[in-house]
Amino acid sequence: MAEITVNTFHKRKNTNEKLVMVTAYDAIGAAAAYEAGIDILLAGDSMANTALGFKNTLPLSMEEALFHTAAVKRGAPDAFVIFDMPFMSYQISDEEALRNAARAIKEINADAVKLEGGADHAPLIAKLVNAGIPVMAHIGLLPQKVKTSGGYKAAGKTEDAARQLLEDARKVEEAGAFSVVLECMPADVAAEITAAITIPTIGIGSGAGCSGQVQVLTDVLGLSSFTPRHAKHYAEIGEIMRNALKQYANDVRQGTFPGKENSF
Ligand code: KIV
Repeated sequence: MAEITVNTFHKRKNTNEKLVMVTAYDAIGAAAAYEAGIDILLAGDSMANTALGFKNTLPLSMEEALFHTAAVKRGAPDAFVIFDMPFMSYQISDEEALRNAARAIKEINADAVKLEGGADHAPLIAKLVNAGIPVMAHIGLLPQKVKTSGGYKAAGKTEDAARQLLEDARKVEEAGAFSVVLECMPADVAAEITAAITIPTIGIGSGAGCSGQVQVLTDVLGLSSFTPRHAKHYAEIGEIMRNALKQYANDVRQGTFPGKENSF
């Protein structure tokens, strides 16, 4: 597969070729996604929910995020892997944010970082980019703000809110972000933002007018118990897993496994 760099993002925007991103949380998922030809792996902070069993993304620590992103990189060493900055790893001070983002680059060879926020985070994005750390921004529904927003609500539904999102997208572009995630906003708002900026937009729940799409791996594979409206199961791997494990348990209980061929 051709190597993906930050330049690929700009090229794809210019040639109108869709970018495909999926989350990955471990080596096996990363290898499968890379081998399937997925362009970008996001070691998303959704690992808090999907891999670690938390109710939201807030408890995820830097150490846990680094540990899992390192596994993603080991599983797909040639993939473009984005480290998702955990809650409170970049909000306390720019100095702390720079130090934490640098750990992702230096310690586990991540290719870029992603952080949630628009115009309010533009000065930090500029500092990270000036230091040599590529940044993907993330606007719209911000899961790390679930407590202040009172739940997971679609963004940009009023004219003012849509205008603010456009302003956010312009500011993160100006600050040097190489791409921006647009989460759960009306499709026409996302399409307008995509047309108004030169960096590619990666949509989730924001319609087909974005430059690319991102989905959560466990949703795509049918491993999650709850399927959000923006997601689609492309397989029912959860069902397949449960059936395989039932058959294994049954075989052991019946004495039909292990057979002679499995024994030494
Ligand atoms: O962590 C994640 O899964 C994400 C995507 C929703 C973009 O940030």
